[in-house]
Amino acid sequence: MGTSAIAAEIDGLRRSVEYHNHRYHVLDDPEISDADFDALFDRLVELEAGHPELVTEDSPTQRVGGAPLDQFETVVHALPMLSLDKCTNESGLEEFDERIRTRLGREDALTYTCEPKIDGVAVNLRYESGRFTLGATRGDGRKGENITSNVRTIKAIPLHLRGDDHPAVLEVRGEIYMPKAGFLAYNEAARARGEKTLVNPRNGAAGSLRQLHPKMTATRPLSMFCYGVGEIVGNWAPAAQSEVLARFKEWGLRVNPDADTVNGVEGCIAYTRRTLEVRDELPYEIDGVVVKVDELALQRELGTVTRKPRYAIAFKFPAEEASTRVLAVEFQVGRTGAITPVARLEPVFVGGVTVSNCTLHNMDEVERLGLMAGDRVLVRRAGDVIPQIVKVVGPRAKDAQRVVMPKRCPECRSEIVQLEGEVVARCSGGLYCPAQRRQAIRHFASRLAMDIEGLGDKLVEQLVDAGMVDHVGDLYRLELEQVVELERMGEKSAANLLAAIEDSKETTLERFLYSLGIREVGEATARSLARHFGTLDGIRRADEEALEGVADVGPIVARNIASFFRQSHNVEVIAALIAAGIHWPDVEVVVEEQPLMAETWVLTGSLETMTRSDAKSKLESLGAKVSGSVSARTSRVVAGPRAGSKLNKARELDVPVMDEEAFVEFLERHGVA
Ligand code: IVH
Repeated sequence: MGTSAIAAEIDGLRRSVEYHNHRYHVLDDPEISDADFDALFDRLVELEAGHPELVTEDSPTQRVGGAPLDQFETVVHALPMLSLDKCTNESGLEEFDERIRTRLGREDALTYTCEPKIDGVAVNLRYESGRFTLGATRGDGRKGENITSNVRTIKAIPLHLRGDDHPAVLEVRGEIYMPKAGFLAYNEAARARGEKTLVNPRNGAAGSLRQLHPKMTATRPLSMFCYGVGEIVGNWAPAAQSEVLARFKEWGLRVNPDADTVNGVEGCIAYTRRTLEVRDELPYEIDGVVVKVDELALQRELGTVTRKPRYAIAFKFPAEEASTRVLAVEFQVGRTGAITPVARLEPVFVGGVTVSNCTLHNMDEVERLGLMAGDRVLVRRAGDVIPQIVKVVGPRAKDAQRVVMPKRCPECRSEIVQLEGEVVARCSGGLYCPAQRRQAIRHFASRLAMDIEGLGDKLVEQLVDAGMVDHVGDLYRLELEQVVELERMGEKSAANLLAAIEDSKETTLERFLYSLGIREVGEATARSLARHFGTLDGIRRADEEALEGVADVGPIVARNIASFFRQSHNVEVIAALIAAGIHWPDVEVVVEEQPLMAETWVLTGSLETMTRSDAKSKLESLGAKVSGSVSARTSRVVAGPRAGSKLNKARELDVPVMDEEAFVEFLERHGVA
């Protein structure tokens, strides 16, 4: 093949690779398989290796990362990169709208383009004759750092603009960010390799772009949304922000699909509400919404003051991370005696609420964080998720205290024990421990248990502290005169409480069983036990083997149940409750012919029409046991897409396999679909 034929093939391959890159990384809509893409790419690498003189800087093979730098050069931006005024509530948006309409002398509603405010790194990309020539950070707005070779490694950023109608020079502004999924995957892999993890996606993006070695940047999952222009030389004069975004898309630049052009401030407010609602489900992190006057002529008329344009505003959402100090680490006792370290924090506003406590889960977590009392920490609260300490930050105070698991329970002074192989340490005090007692009572009264309305945390604490209730049986001995004595308790609410306690006497066996708070016996297990044995006595007398015969009872739960009934004080409490008048109708024992009685099934891969736990409970309702691993005793394997080693094992052992469609049909036939 002559050189010109090779040059032509190289050129064709580059175009194909760029085309498929764009489909995959910009449009999220690939046309060919990864393997086919790799074949194209490998062929290009091969040809270039044989003809180094044909290699150009903007070949897609050159993305992988060039030579390391000593330092980043400074770049003076052709046009300054501005920052934004901000507001934190809807009246801030209304004032912004009012301000500009007054300034423009406009009575009618303006058109705005609203965009998610991406939590990443602001950059400027320069394209000359459609070729990517320069990538720079925002820096102080006037000058930033030249990060061209790092930017080149990001596949969502085109090395060439598509089409031929772009201006001679086009500067594109936008945000380089790390998608949430990429961040999680990166951290998982880093953890597995024993390497340092990234704190959050924004730090991840910033750190990745600051690598002097582009090969490092190339390994990081980065992407970009383009949202504005810098210098333009040539034949393009966009009329509106919405037009800028539309043209960007045509030129192959990645634009946020969640941007929207709306009417008036009402449209902006609706947009911010919508966005706040879906914030946690977005595949990227945001810290707010940016509202921009859509028409660029109006933007020019409004102008800029001290580097902040009058025509745009950032509506900041509550930060999901904030730093604060750990004042102390205390230990709490749970219902089952589990001792949990809890950080008491200097109160901090994060994720829309003030956080002053934060669970540390267990001592393994304290160790992983390397946390000492007195440390400054980064606290994260996203959506409804309970607050978490992400990491220790800043220098350590001299008087920082090591966190040590106490030897004795902080509530009852009983010994704390940690069984071998368990992460959780427990108070050995059982119902002697007031903390465990309080929570046992709270659980007993809860909605799915005995359902005593009005008996909440505060009241339980008062009753226990006043010595009126030691264990749940005492609830049924409470007198009106006693209860009215409690602080903030009127005659009426005292009478209501006693009526609710009285009502609770009429219950069901499954509720009663659940209310006893046997470790790991939830409502579903309580129901199975009731239906299997029919009477409380039957359950009490059952040994571990008999208990394991119940649908969702495994060896650990069976041991918990048996050991609960072996303890005489538990039996006494139950006797007292029954003597107080708690009763339930007999349960019909279900010894139905269960079709899958002797079978063990394994679920593997993902299911599309139901969750795994749904599938599991459906199988269990037919009497099957559901196991996590395939063995010669496995009766059947249900394999969804992406099933892996378990499916192979099943084939090896000749275990029958069904796909999801067959499985759903099977469930339908058995009336449990
Ligand atoms: S527009 C003149 N749009 O927010 C307008 N900025 O506080 C300048 N940002 O430095 C910025 N998403 O890092 C704009 N859709 C978006 C944005 C956005 C994130 C960041 C950007 C900028 C900062 C301004």
